[in-house]
Amino acid sequence: MTRTRFPDFLLVSSLVLLGLLGMSGARAAIQTHTVTNYLTHCGGCHGIEGVSGKTFVPTLRDQVGQFTCSQEGRDYLVRVPGISMSLIRDDQELADVLNFVLFRLGGNSTPTSTKPFTATEVHTLRAQPLQTDDLMALRAEVLSRARAACPH
Ligand code: HEC
Repeated sequence: MTRTRFPDFLLVSSLVLLGLLGMSGARAAIQTHTVTNYLTHCGGCHGIEGVSGKTFVPTLRDQVGQFTCSQEGRDYLVRVPGISMSLIRDDQELADVLNFVLFRLGGNSTPTSTKPFTATEVHTLRAQPLQTDDLMALRAEVLSRARAACPH
């Protein structure tokens, strides 16, 4: 069996991303493995810095944290197909990636009161993937209710 080569562009991207994110702040202890997981499993759609441009894929950077203002929105973050069905099967690893997305890419959109996702929470919620014919409409409703509950 031939071993898949880790694409050079991903390696370069991880280094760039790690550099961009800097090493300061209380939440600096983000593992390289987590960033690599994000780049490999999520970055292709969401962009290496969480900016997906003019596509149907939502921008995560400085946006995604608003969902955590409601319980429904928090649940949505794990139940969305890109996460619940992720090839990252390990719940702790997926929680780490989600926390990276929220507390790094999410920036100020994530309220300071937001608690990090745990492996148990991810385990329970990913077993209940969203079921709808119109994900975009559901997303818009969940987001507007969450926004209304945000402290800012
Ligand atoms: C195939 C493209 C694709 C991949 C891969 C993907 N996503 Fe997504 N993601 C989407 C789309 C599209 C949505 C909007 C909801 C929907 O239609 O599923 C979304 C929604 C989200 C949301 C909710 C935010 C919002 O504004 O709706 C989060 C958080 C998220 N993705 C994170 C991730 C993470 C973390 C990974 C990797 C584990 C990932 N996504 C993998 C396309 C993708």
